Amino acid sequence: MKILAIESSCDETAVAVVEDGRQVICEKVASQIDIHREYGGVVPEIASRQHVETISELIDSTLEKGGLSFSDIDVVAATRGPGLVGALLVGLTAGKTLAYALDLPFVGANHMQGHICANYLAHPELEPPFLGLVVSGGHTYLLHVKDYTNYDILGQTLDDAAGEVFDKIARALGLPYPGGPHIDALAKTGDPKAMELPRVMLGKGSYDFSFSGLKTAVLNGLNQAAQKGQKIDTEDVAASFQQAVLDVLIEKTISAAKELNLDTIAMSGGVSANEGLRLQLGERAKKEGLRLFYPPRALCTDNAAMIGSAAYYQYLYDKENLSDIGVDPNLGL
Ligand code: KG4
Ligand code: ZN
Repeated sequence: MKILAIESSCDETAVAVVEDGRQVICEKVASQIDIHREYGGVVPEIASRQHVETISELIDSTLEKGGLSFSDIDVVAATRGPGLVGALLVGLTAGKTLAYALDLPFVGANHMQGHICANYLAHPELEPPFLGLVVSGGHTYLLHVKDYTNYDILGQTLDDAAGEVFDKIARALGLPYPGGPHIDALAKTGDPKAMELPRVMLGKGSYDFSFSGLKTAVLNGLNQAAQKGQKIDTEDVAASFQQAVLDVLIEKTISAAKELNLDTIAMSGGVSANEGLRLQLGERAKKEGLRLFYPPRALCTDNAAMIGSAAYYQYLYDKENLSDIGVDPNLGL
């Protein structure tokens, strides 16, 4: 089954054709990052307009890249949430219109399920059950992935998402948007012990996250240094901040896997591109005898291939939700 999938929930317009939920036949991502960078973050109205300008041509050129035509497609899918309402509407309307014109079924997919499914595209051997860690710009989830469409939320962020806090600290350090990759790069040569920062665990046995206290501590440290006229070492701040985030993510992920007796961890979302996180969680998992999966970088950040995979499993196993195809900016898992 070939699914043509569209993703437009934030600042990337993306189209892909995915076969049987596992194989990417062709895909393209048109990033708007250079446009939003000027404003230090995503401007929703500009995002919607860019999606409108890009989407039709991107559908055509993606099919062309795969040597496919509309007659090769079996199902059309688009992200219905969570995300920016105007941005979602563009992709969803394009997808529904296409499905109607081609007389094909339509699936409104969940962006967060997409992030989980990104690992299915990269790792043919990965099957549920496993422990899912989804760390993106808007969400932080620890999940018991029981089946392809059945998840228990073990914990989530109570305030800032992991990616969001990377972006906010990067901004305070004068780094361009999105800041995560810049902090990642600087952290490699910084001292992670240079700044003493809190690791908020929220009590024993809690799998929820809170990063706002850490954010405030870093910002206070930067302000105090500025008031005293002290020069800060950007690499040391990046390394110390990143290590504080990683320590919490790693500790909770390993504890949850052990408590639930799951021998496999699959992490995904933009922050799973972080080199320190890949390395350190990899080492910890190995020590504990756990398997760790994560997608290649291009499938960590937003893309349409992951939506094609999520839509496939939704189409197969979650048919009752297929009629519910309006956008939902706050769609949960
Ligand atoms: O999953 P994603 O593309 O979009 C959302 O669904 O939110 O995640 C984007 C987030 C941004 O906050 C970005 O700074 C972060 O992922 N990110 C990283 C890295 N690459 C992207 N954070 C830390 N280290 C990275 N290498
Ligand atoms: Zn995302």
